[in-house]
Amino acid sequence: MLKRSVKKWVSSGVWFITTLILFFFLVGRFERQPKLTHLEAKHFESLGKNSLTGYTNYTIERLGLRPIPFVSPLEQNSKEHIINDVLSFVYPIDINSNGKFKCRDWKARSSNTGTEDYNKTLLIVVISAAEHSAKRDLIRRTWASPSVLNVDWIQVIFLVGSPRDEDKVITERLKKENAEHEDLVQVNIVDTYANLTLKSVALLHWTHSHCPDAELVLKCDDDNYINWNVFTKILPNINVTRSIYGTPVPTLFAERWKSQKHYVSRRVWPWPRYPNYLMGGCYAISGQAVTPLLAATQTTPFFWIEDIYLTGLCASKANVSLQTQPK
Ligand SMILES: *[C@@H]1O[C@H](CO)[C@@H](O)[C@H](O)[C@H]1NC(C)=O
Ligand SMILES: *[C@@H]1O[C@H](CO)[C@@H](O)[C@H](O)[C@H]1NC(C)=O
Ligand SMILES: *[C@@H]1O[C@H](CO)[C@@H](O)[C@H](O)[C@H]1NC(C)=O
Ligand SMILES: *[C@@H]1O[C@H](CO)[C@@H](O)[C@H](O)[C@H]1NC(C)=O
Ligand SMILES: *[C@@H]1O[C@H](CO)[C@@H](O)[C@H](O)[C@H]1NC(C)=O
Repeated sequence: MLKRSVKKWVSSGVWFITTLILFFFLVGRFERQPKLTHLEAKHFESLGKNSLTGYTNYTIERLGLRPIPFVSPLEQNSKEHIINDVLSFVYPIDINSNGKFKCRDWKARSSNTGTEDYNKTLLIVVISAAEHSAKRDLIRRTWASPSVLNVDWIQVIFLVGSPRDEDKVITERLKKENAEHEDLVQVNIVDTYANLTLKSVALLHWTHSHCPDAELVLKCDDDNYINWNVFTKILPNINVTRSIYGTPVPTLFAERWKSQKHYVSRRVWPWPRYPNYLMGGCYAISGQAVTPLLAATQTTPFFWIEDIYLTGLCASKANVSLQTQPK
């Protein structure tokens, strides 16, 4: 009799302690308000409700970013300091020098804009890592097959970064791949998840300098599939004025659990929510929005989550509107 009640006590005690440990463990994983330095405390006070206007000043001061001298602003009237050099990416492999590059002839086409049934020039940029040649091959065999691209108004490029540790085998393979398909652009950014923001900025820079007459620029990751039947129905309804088309992100709360994929500390993003933004997997930028967006990246401190940075912070600064894909 005694034995049994002792057992019961012990077992409920174990449960109690386990629950307690679990509770404190979970609480520990959730980031509370950090201890602030004097400077940050000052900034937290003056952050304001609006993360869009507050982010730039807050982050410039938090990181001690200095204006870059001798870089000309793309936005002439901008009074903001240029803090990011986004005009000097290097492209070791560049489709621009290949015969298959169609963008060169697109300026003449854009004078047709008034006519009824005409196809908007479409630059599709597939964001891909240097070592993802199998994924690229799959795309070339499916939605981006030569038969689909056999028109003068669609250009597909694969934007790859630099392999980690300057891997020579991958570099050689990339050169061969490009010799065969003539559809690669390589930029001098190491392929890591946190560098995806930089890669999208490079996409804007490359488009601005190499394919300025594209009326629409579709950015997709290399694990997306484009359904042409759907897409060609959407295309005529897309307005080429300063917009980004895509899927809005439903929950804008910043992730504060350290185990979450997009965990961001309160120090980096002190506001509870992000501004409206679109899902990064696939979105379409109207040609007219490319240069204003690139100009915004000159003055907006980088944020490692690509879609929040580009379609949230920079789009807002550049007055580029977010649109849901037309039906
Ligand atoms: C950001 O800083 C600039 C210059 O220091 C100032 O003119 C501007 O009002 C600040 N903006 C906000 C939203 O605090
Ligand atoms: C637009 O593209 C479609 C599909 O390639 C083609 O059938 C059509 O003739 C093109 N229209 C014009 C005006 O070029
Ligand atoms: C990209 O990411 C790597 C590792 O996180 C980093 O060392 C590198 O400086 C980043 N930037 C570029 C331009 O490659
Ligand atoms: C595109 O948007 C502009 C400005 O919002 C508007 O004036 C124009 O009529 C629109 N065009 C189409 C085809 O919807
Ligand atoms: C965006 O619009 C606001 C208000 O209309 C204007 O003051 C600002 O100059 C515009 N910014 C750009 C980059 O066009």
